[in-house]
Amino acid sequence: MLDEISGLVDWQKLDAAHHLHPFTDHKALHAGRVRVITGGDGVFLYDSDGHKILDGMAGLWCVAAGYSRRELVDAATTQMLKLPYYNTFFKTTNQPAVALAQRLAHLAPPGLNHVFFACSGSEAVDTALRMARVYWQTKGKPEKKIVIGREYGYHGSTTLGASAGGMADMHRQAGDAPNFVQVMPPYWFGFGGQMSEAEFGIYAAKQVEDKIKELGANNIAAFIGEPLQGAGGVIIPPETYWPEINRICKQHDILLIADEVITGYGRTGNMFGSDTFGIEPDMITTAKALTSGYIPLSALLVGDRVAATFINEVGEFYHGFTYSGHPVACAVALANLDIIEREGLVARAGRMGVLLRDKLHDALDDNPMVGEIRGVGLIGAIELVAEKRTRRFFDKRGRVGQMCRDFCFGNDLIMRAVRDTMVFSPPLIISELEIDLLVARVALSIEQTYEKVKKEVRF
Ligand SMILES: Cc1ncc(COP(=O)(O)O)c(C=O)c1O
Repeated sequence: MLDEISGLVDWQKLDAAHHLHPFTDHKALHAGRVRVITGGDGVFLYDSDGHKILDGMAGLWCVAAGYSRRELVDAATTQMLKLPYYNTFFKTTNQPAVALAQRLAHLAPPGLNHVFFACSGSEAVDTALRMARVYWQTKGKPEKKIVIGREYGYHGSTTLGASAGGMADMHRQAGDAPNFVQVMPPYWFGFGGQMSEAEFGIYAAKQVEDKIKELGANNIAAFIGEPLQGAGGVIIPPETYWPEINRICKQHDILLIADEVITGYGRTGNMFGSDTFGIEPDMITTAKALTSGYIPLSALLVGDRVAATFINEVGEFYHGFTYSGHPVACAVALANLDIIEREGLVARAGRMGVLLRDKLHDALDDNPMVGEIRGVGLIGAIELVAEKRTRRFFDKRGRVGQMCRDFCFGNDLIMRAVRDTMVFSPPLIISELEIDLLVARVALSIEQTYEKVKKEVRF
């Protein structure tokens, strides 16, 4: 039906008339033209104007296995024909949910053997935060309620997730539930490089410990952090940071929640970012690459001490979703994990990431506006700066990044701009030739940005 009428419909006009988009300034959107994505294949997207676009972001960091994977469609169809839906409340379960829970427990770092399913990363975060507080209530410490997050952290868009995250605009617009605080992110480049990277990692972790001392460990439920801060600009912590956070959380008896909604299932070259950075979490939130984004599903991996408390002591946990453990979503996740394992996408992310960064260095190191190229596995960032030597950012943060993002779009490449940091996270199936194409398009877009910046922006 849609195919038959698609040529006759003005999709842009209809979209403007009826569709409210997430994280969008609608006035600005309506002043331009919304892009209508009509199809996808491998690492490429197609739009209604006939463009073939290289997706350097894997959708929203999620399409690990690439677009148009028949196996995932078949897994959904088969499960829909058998059992399209049933809930997991009221002493019921379904086979795909059980099989997936077992498989995730097997893949997870040691000591995380239970899984709570939801539909989105935000819901997984919400679940983790509620579990942390219920855990301490049950342990006779109901005053342990405060959650420590970090500036530039992103933990989703429910009220609790927005409050845990460190996005100032979200806090301003009602993401300000009580009992959340933020400390500085481990953003070495942004800090200006006044210390060595290793020293800075310890310094940033110390801010967490100082905050705990200030507020009192007896009032703090959990620390939540992404192994690397994706939406905050792919902020990759120094190697010294996470081991210190492990120590601090243990010493002060605070639960450690690793938000792996982006890093889970291979992105950093290991199955979990916790493996890559040596994190020892009590809970891990995952979503996105779990189904390669083909269908909404998230999984909270729960460590033994929290799970045992819920199983043996809490009684009923008054929390859950109509679609928790949705059989179709779980069947797709199982098929997606088959692809990830069979095609060795986790190790491949590590290998291809090195190749991608090497090529980016070759293409961009001489550009006076490129302050840093960083990455781990197939996720990374390019810092655009006003002055390379001193790492000075542009005065009006975000303008140059937007400019560069628009040039990328014009060159049929999707990259994301966070302030003036260009971030990338392509599908894990990206080939060497496609990496060459990505690098060529990024280099061209940054060159075009530089030419424009020289004329228009005050350095
Ligand atoms: C680290 C992290 N946590 C949570 C979320 C929220 O996930 P969702 O958009 O599926 O609710 C995101 C989304 O990008 C994320 O990056």
